[in-house]
Amino acid sequence: MAAIEDYKPGLAGVPAALSEISYVEGLQGTLEYRGIPIHELAQHSSFLESCFLLIWGHLPSLDELQAFEHEIRYHRRLKYRIRDMMKCFPESGHPMDALQACSAALGLFYSRRALDDPEYIRAAVVRLLAKIPTMVAAFQMMRKGNDPIQPRDDLDYAANFLYMMNEREPDPLAAKIFDVCLVLHAEHTINASTFSARVTASTLTDPYGVIASAVGTLAGPLHGGANEEVIEMLEEIGSVDRVEAYIEGRIKNKQKIMGFGHRVYKVKDPRAVILQGLAEKLFAEYGGDRYYDIALAVEQAVEKRLGAKGIYPNVDFYSGLVYRRLGIPSDLFTPVFAIARVGGWLAHWKAQLGENRIFRPTQIYSGQHAQPYISIEERTLSKVFPSLEATNGKKA
Ligand code: CMC
Repeated sequence: MAAIEDYKPGLAGVPAALSEISYVEGLQGTLEYRGIPIHELAQHSSFLESCFLLIWGHLPSLDELQAFEHEIRYHRRLKYRIRDMMKCFPESGHPMDALQACSAALGLFYSRRALDDPEYIRAAVVRLLAKIPTMVAAFQMMRKGNDPIQPRDDLDYAANFLYMMNEREPDPLAAKIFDVCLVLHAEHTINASTFSARVTASTLTDPYGVIASAVGTLAGPLHGGANEEVIEMLEEIGSVDRVEAYIEGRIKNKQKIMGFGHRVYKVKDPRAVILQGLAEKLFAEYGGDRYYDIALAVEQAVEKRLGAKGIYPNVDFYSGLVYRRLGIPSDLFTPVFAIARVGGWLAHWKAQLGENRIFRPTQIYSGQHAQPYISIEERTLSKVFPSLEATNGKKA
């Protein structure tokens, strides 16, 4: 039986997998996909190449990459039934909920579970990577009362998504920067959503269920949902001169500052460093964002007060500023995170299948034993006549 000292809230520091997919070192701020540093991939790779690397464990040859890109390009369209289902979603619903529902619904169309067949695995990888961006963009169009924009086969992955979102072909620089954002968000060891994906995968359910459960987990404000809250915070602060008082107030009231802190990193998240550089590039090209000055002041104010505790900007702090400049509305920031993280989740799904044992942790029971069952009549009576109960000590 497990002892109380074994219990780690949030499973902090408890290894849940043996994995070769990615590596994080929190004191230097290192992140590697299959051993390759993230800044190398951000500079030289593309999102789909990085996904191939994560999922199949090696950088693809030119032929492999072209075949993979080609397959994904031709699976971007959605079944009309999925689009019809989306039309029934309330416009006010959160796009992460829409994405979770649509990811799960894919399983209705492709439910055969041949989990030991590499072709089935490849087809599921292709379908999910291809269709998730189309779902996000389609929901965005439909909630505005418009028909979804069909994907364009002549555009690459990032450019096609921005096109489906804005009905306009993006500048090559904007598309390139968005692709780098996807690379940066593709994978990050066993965080909450990846753990969720692995737990679901371990039951040998279909991959659409795996991705749907991970999307649901990513949605929370302590995980992927933080990027949306960062922008809300910057809007609430409103001007640089209000930053100090705002941060001071939150710390005093023991409220978290969104976009800061990380279970593993005790320095500035390496992805935040790259994203900040991308934000600056975008602002230089397309004009500044007044929230960027507020963000810089927030970073300084938090570092001054919480830097000694290892609390620095995480990936979510600067990503929203980049997405805003690319014309992505703030409640789509987390779905965009999900588009990227599908790559990592699929890598973990495939890895889990290769070494599967169903997740079944234990618990430490802290409740009572051998309690009497009290009938509903007695429970009702004791509520209506508590004094009677107290004097009699038994039912009236
Ligand atoms: N603002 C103020 N204080 C913080 C923050 C923050 N953002 N993050 C951690 N702390 C403090 C916390 O109050 C606690 O202080 P004390 O020891 O005095 O009680 C200490 O640091 C440890 O915090 P914790 O919440 O126990 O740490 P954790 O490892 O369980 O949580 C975290 C990590 C990311 C959930 C947390 O830092 C947080 O809630 N941050 C804000 C939300 C956020 O930005 N989330 C995105 C995470 S990165 C991307 C992703 O995972 O999707």
